[in-house]
Amino acid sequence: MTESKIAVIGAGQMGNGIAHVFAQSGFPVTMIDVAQAALDRGKSTIEKNLDRQVKKGTIDAAAKDATLGRIATSTSTANAGDAALVVEAATENRDLKFRIFGDLDRAAPNAILATNTSSISITEIAAKTTRPEKVIGMHFMNPVPVMQLVEVIRGLATSDETTRTTLELAKAVGKTPVEVNDYPGFVANRILMPMINEAVYCLMEGVGTPEAIDTVMKLGMNHPMGPLALADLIGLDTCLAILEVLQGGLGDPKYRPCPLLRKYVAAGWLGRKSGRGFYTYAS
Ligand SMILES: NC(=O)c1ccc[n+]([C@@H]2O[C@H](COP(=O)([O-])OP(=O)(O)OC[C@H]3O[C@@H](n4cnc5c(N)ncnc54)[C@H](O)[C@@H]3O)[C@@H](O)[C@H]2O)c1
Repeated sequence: MTESKIAVIGAGQMGNGIAHVFAQSGFPVTMIDVAQAALDRGKSTIEKNLDRQVKKGTIDAAAKDATLGRIATSTSTANAGDAALVVEAATENRDLKFRIFGDLDRAAPNAILATNTSSISITEIAAKTTRPEKVIGMHFMNPVPVMQLVEVIRGLATSDETTRTTLELAKAVGKTPVEVNDYPGFVANRILMPMINEAVYCLMEGVGTPEAIDTVMKLGMNHPMGPLALADLIGLDTCLAILEVLQGGLGDPKYRPCPLLRKYVAAGWLGRKSGRGFYTYAS
């Protein structure tokens, strides 16, 4: 199976993690982004994360070099041409993903087209291609090299064969896939985002400081990370985009994004990736 070529669209926090795990498991990977700077940053993040694994003793230096050697980069989707699987991990925006899947339909004629979207309808994305049976959700968790779960989401037209191959590929990179169906936010974000949103309401209403809110959830509920720290890790722009999909797709006002979350995103306070969110981060 490791002879299958993999293309990853987007070299941001998720894209570079997805490229990392496929390459580490022996697959040749092309990581594609519109921005050369994002590719350079993505490649250096992979190198840093591999260094950490070497220090911990989970891989040796030769495995690090071999992993890096399997990752090519490109600014053109045309280079996804011979891929058996494309995993799209570009910015969480419907129109952008619709456009990318239209392009991939032509550029990678034999590939399974998977999206790492957190919330956008797989069925709608698939409808932008001529082969909706080969389109599927492959939702990795952040940070990808560490987290065990891949939520595998079947669109309305996704075939059994596409689902089977995707489950196998997730297992081949050491992950545990869980198959779910296509409704806004799927399972992970349908449950996670209302909790994060409620934590932002608690902050806006002065119920507690970020530290107090996160400590209550860590020590009281045994969560490894508080919801505000987790939102900073995910990216506040991504959290807002997911809540908007939940609100629009399910039509229930309980999903309305907290105005404070909107304000932070408008200010460019996007969490770890911008150096400031609910907490501040050294670059
Ligand atoms: N951040 C998380 O915790 C998380 C978890 C699971 C899934 N996701 C999903 O993964 C996807 C990516 O999220 P992220 O956090 O990595 O975002 P990010 O902002 O870190 O990276 C997005 C990347 O997409 C690139 N991009 C934009 N348009 C493109 C195009 N047309 N072609 C190729 N690349 C393009 C950008 O240059 C950027 O490098 C989103 O769909 C998000 O919902 C995110």
